[in-house]
Amino acid sequence: MTPLTDLDPIISLAKRRGFVFQGSEIYGGLANTWDYGPLGVELKNNIKQLWWKKFISDREDCVGLDSAIFMNKSVWEASGHVGGFSDPLMDCKNCKTRHRADKLLEEYIHKKKLDEKVEGLTDEQLKQKIDLFQIPCPVCGKHDFTDIRKFNLMFKTHQGVIEEGKSLVYLRPETAQGIFINFKNIQTVSRKKLPFGVGQIGKAFRNEITPGNFIFRTREFEQMEMEYFCSAEESLSYFQHWQDFCRNWLLEIGIKPENFRLREHAKEELSHYSKATTDIEFHFPFGWGELWGIAHRGNYDLTQHSLHSKKDLTYFDVAGQEKFLPDVIEPSLGVDRLLLALLSNAYSEDVVEEETRFFLRFHSQIAPVKLGICPLTKKQHENAHRIYQDLKTTYTSEYDDSGSIGKRYRRFDEIGVPFCITIDFETEQDQKVTVRHRDTCKQDRVEVSQLKNYFLEQFSKM
Ligand code: GAP
Repeated sequence: MTPLTDLDPIISLAKRRGFVFQGSEIYGGLANTWDYGPLGVELKNNIKQLWWKKFISDREDCVGLDSAIFMNKSVWEASGHVGGFSDPLMDCKNCKTRHRADKLLEEYIHKKKLDEKVEGLTDEQLKQKIDLFQIPCPVCGKHDFTDIRKFNLMFKTHQGVIEEGKSLVYLRPETAQGIFINFKNIQTVSRKKLPFGVGQIGKAFRNEITPGNFIFRTREFEQMEMEYFCSAEESLSYFQHWQDFCRNWLLEIGIKPENFRLREHAKEELSHYSKATTDIEFHFPFGWGELWGIAHRGNYDLTQHSLHSKKDLTYFDVAGQEKFLPDVIEPSLGVDRLLLALLSNAYSEDVVEEETRFFLRFHSQIAPVKLGICPLTKKQHENAHRIYQDLKTTYTSEYDDSGSIGKRYRRFDEIGVPFCITIDFETEQDQKVTVRHRDTCKQDRVEVSQLKNYFLEQFSKM
């Protein structure tokens, strides 16, 4: 199939089949907010459970955490987010809309296929390039911008009834800081020796100036973050280890190798805390975009929190008889962004019985529904429903008895169900059903009593 060049088919499928709805839709919507429907939430849960198993439960050296979204505001002063977590903004003097200068330039370079780089440019250099190319305002088309100003991305609110300085709290812009401030607690209770990791999944909030591309960049999103603590001497080898580990997991969950690539950040591009960063980029329908950031954070965060909290956060190494603040390697991934990547990666088209069919070729562990159960006619309902009740305790299953069998197969294909089971006129006589494979449309006749073993084998092969 020719690769998708825009998100429209995915957005339309996501809405039509209940993966993702526009937020607050019945009130005219709230820009860039999205609600995950019945299939979307299954898909999201599969992603999170698979990540948790791979990054936490299956590893001897990693444990989990679920820290609060609200934290003492000193956390964000210490981490550098109050001072440094900002975007370069400029206003269009003509239509009064606000834009991210780096994104304006990036989109222009992409559109005109110019051999130019945005990374590492200072605000002055950004403005100079935007003026040089006479980049127009995307809303009114005029080129008349203000100078660049910095805009902090953290959402603010107040805790309690009095809105004053003391009650100010931020919605966390990353889950990572919850891990750093609990470093001592976790090390004490888990008695882990270096190297060890702490992972967490949770919501993060950023007042993005240019949210967009569906669920790619939103103001409320979920992160799956791992902070891996190790000695400075070993940090580069763990930086490499986590790049390989993350890349292998993407392959395991069915992301095609040609759809992602690793990109090392240039020095000027690094975040305020990072010594080195490699992004895993995915080939989204709108172009290459960051999927996963793997950062070498040095001991920046623990140092900052030690200084600001005045608490001793050092690790005592028994073998070397020394105290030090460990380095950290951080693979940080957005759940929503991975979900979009998985939808794009799975979106497929072929011709079956001279008709074009669109289907989602999800990896079996990712597929939100594993089995579709179809009685050929309503007469097989009782038998079919018994099989459905039995299988759905092991595999997420859906029952569908309306429309022609061909139409039902197409409906299941469209949401990526790996197998359909048809209960027909002969099932009562021979106790067998037809199992139809999503990807090949191949059909097998399988004994009802053997279905669970059959699927155990099939799913292990997928
Ligand atoms: N703790 C490090 C950190 O937060 P980041 O590169 O800013 O690093 C990590 O974010 C990941 O979180 C990104 O690679 C992306 O998958 C996801 N992410 C970041 N901002 C996002 C947004 N506005 N909407 C959706 N996902 C986002």
